[in-house]
Amino acid sequence: MGEGVASLLDAREIRKAYGGAVALRGASLAVARGEIHALLGENGAGKSTLIKCIAGTPPPDSGTIFVDGRRLADHHAPAAAAEAGLAFIHQESTLIEDLTVEENIAIVEGYPRRWGLINWPAMRRRAREALNTLDVSIDPNRKVAELPIAARTTVAIARALALSAKVLVLDEPTASLGAKDVAALFAALRRISAQGGAIVFVSHRLDEVYDLCDRMTVLRDGANVGTARPRDLSRRDLVEMICGHDVSHVGKSADAPDSRPVLEARGYEGETVAPFDFRWGLVRSSASPACPTRGITNSAKCSSVWRLSSPAARA
Ligand SMILES: Nc1ncnc2c1ncn2[C@@H]1O[C@H](COP(=O)(O)OP(=O)(O)OP(=O)(O)O)[C@@H](O)[C@H]1O
Ligand SMILES: [Mg+2]
Repeated sequence: MGEGVASLLDAREIRKAYGGAVALRGASLAVARGEIHALLGENGAGKSTLIKCIAGTPPPDSGTIFVDGRRLADHHAPAAAAEAGLAFIHQESTLIEDLTVEENIAIVEGYPRRWGLINWPAMRRRAREALNTLDVSIDPNRKVAELPIAARTTVAIARALALSAKVLVLDEPTASLGAKDVAALFAALRRISAQGGAIVFVSHRLDEVYDLCDRMTVLRDGANVGTARPRDLSRRDLVEMICGHDVSHVGKSADAPDSRPVLEARGYEGETVAPFDFRWGLVRSSASPACPTRGITNSAKCSSVWRLSSPAARA
């Protein structure tokens, strides 16, 4: 499942450099109809870059992308990706803060019109329907700027669901969500996959991946490490794929019983703090991923994610 013509999304040998920095070195991702596919990797592995390349924001330097068997043009625009049936929830919010919830949801499809004028009742109905699929009560008339972060994420998800895309790509959608919102999101994603849609799901939470996903593709340093089914791969082996080294010697402390993050802060910016990810007692800086460090290192490249995780549950 997942390769060749059977794939609803098939991105092959995607390369992308930002100036002299190579972010993707020929990464590939194939997602089958009806599949929920996790895209995994450490901070800086290239997950968001691959997603942006598929979205055309910006397009890849090289590589080919097929959606439902049809090839996207080289250097395609975001509109071409949308037309082909792709919808995205990017890691960074793409909501327009000055617009209301319903306007944000309506704008992606173009405002519904009647006699050349915006059809406000239809717009509200569409927004309410989209929010209902996620079982949430957010006032469609409120400005996005007034909403807490979790509600904004939910609006972004509702907006993407409203597109009824063939392939829905979600880049860390659960990072700011509580358990109830995550459960509602997963129910919606399972409905979409049951109807034949394909889903790409990025998360650093292995519990979510093992709960939700049919297969997992791991990237490291902008290239594929492998693709596997959760039932065929223990969590420890998965983490070794992600990290690229043996993790059996760490994580043995008794005071850290499971894989739930004990602290997670997003949106952090600073001039002297490098992105880092704390797992199994190691602090790994994505500014120098090959070099685990026990401190916070200087870097101009500040991540939007801080995560302190206790050791993952060992399979
Ligand atoms: N706009 C950009 N300009 C320069 N370098 C970039 C840009 N976007 C990403 N990069 C670099 O490309 C590499 C891959 O980054 P990317 O954001 O795709 O990683 P990621 O796997 O999504 O990480 P995370 O889990 O932290 O979200 C990193 O080294 C990152 O610093
Ligand atoms: Mg990312």
